[in-house]
Amino acid sequence: MITGWGAAQAPATLTGMSELPPTAWLVDPDIAYLNHGGFGALPRPVADAAAAIRAEIEANPTDMLMRRWQPQVDAVRARVAAFLRTDAANLVFVGNATAGTATVLASLDWQPGDEVVSTDHRYPAVASQLGVLLRSGVKVVEQHVPVDVTSAAQVVDLVMAGVTARTKLVVVDHIASPTGFVFPVAEVAAAARERGLPVLVDAAHAPGQVDVDVDALGVDFWVGNLHKWVCSPRGCAGLVVAPRWQDVVRPRVASHGYASGYHEAFDWTGTADAVPLLAVPAALDFWDGLGWDAVRAYQRDVVTAGAHAVADAIGTEVAIADEFTAAIRIVRLPVVLGTDAEREKVAYGLIADHGVTAHITEHAGTTYVRMCGQLYNTPEHYDRLAAALPKVLDA
Ligand SMILES: Cc1ncc(COP(=O)(O)O)c(C=O)c1O
Repeated sequence: MITGWGAAQAPATLTGMSELPPTAWLVDPDIAYLNHGGFGALPRPVADAAAAIRAEIEANPTDMLMRRWQPQVDAVRARVAAFLRTDAANLVFVGNATAGTATVLASLDWQPGDEVVSTDHRYPAVASQLGVLLRSGVKVVEQHVPVDVTSAAQVVDLVMAGVTARTKLVVVDHIASPTGFVFPVAEVAAAARERGLPVLVDAAHAPGQVDVDVDALGVDFWVGNLHKWVCSPRGCAGLVVAPRWQDVVRPRVASHGYASGYHEAFDWTGTADAVPLLAVPAALDFWDGLGWDAVRAYQRDVVTAGAHAVADAIGTEVAIADEFTAAIRIVRLPVVLGTDAEREKVAYGLIADHGVTAHITEHAGTTYVRMCGQLYNTPEHYDRLAAALPKVLDA
């Protein structure tokens, strides 16, 4: 049951979203929070549902975490599988996208000289997971995909140009972290399939932000966070593994059920906070009540207009064509900030001195400010970013 503003109050187009009460989210209404993609954020109805679940667990941990555990996990699985459009048999849960990609990579059989093809949009922690493979003598090939590509075919060609006879796996983002670039995953997967290559998709940002039909993508492994754009509490993620790999993929931590099968191996990997997973249905209820199409239209519109306002104000341009983006946009900065420390100085300066939270990112030697669009964002938030950026860059 949605309280605050929900289905009943949501205008059809959501154009009035900016007037909705800020108490609908836990995000501080006094700050321009433009980094939803970083860690997600909680709508108040989901926070309330999560608090109720926590109270229920604490009232009798053994009942919730043992006697009633399996039916609850199976119910969440059925709901999330329908949302992601895959068979529940393919879906297990992990703590986050990092754990999901690490699990898949560590489950595969690597030989010295094997190669993995990835792109220069990959998330740093995924680069770290791939880096672990170097220890086994695996070569990681990182393909450059420029931000100004104009067609899916061009992206496919750029990715596949990294494939050799020694390639064992292709790793692509669904929506990339440093750029917000929405990859043509189905097209990449089709090209990889022609070469007999499995595909792992880092879909950390995809659930909620875009309409996902995992089965239609035709990929082998797909992991998406449920704490970013679905807005369940941190952290929980869905890992979808195609049937032919379900005997191969196993969690790194062998706990109860490890030897009994794919679902069983993941359904209890040791004691952890059960609230994020059990709150996913409440989060999905929240969005279902508002209507996903209207929500996504608002997210996309507010961030696209905002990004153009920022670019106009600082005299640069919005990178990446609209058709390759969703609710994350990047705007080029007029300077190159070549190190993490330099980029963090700007991002942290925005937070500390201007009440603005945005991510400063780098791709192929160019520095960008990354901004997200969420229902709690208004055009004024992007104006505040535009006004603050020159001051922080000059500091
Ligand atoms: C593209 C991408 N992959 C993976 C991750 C890692 O997600 P997590 O920290 O939840 O594991 C992130 C986090 O922002 C991301 O943006």
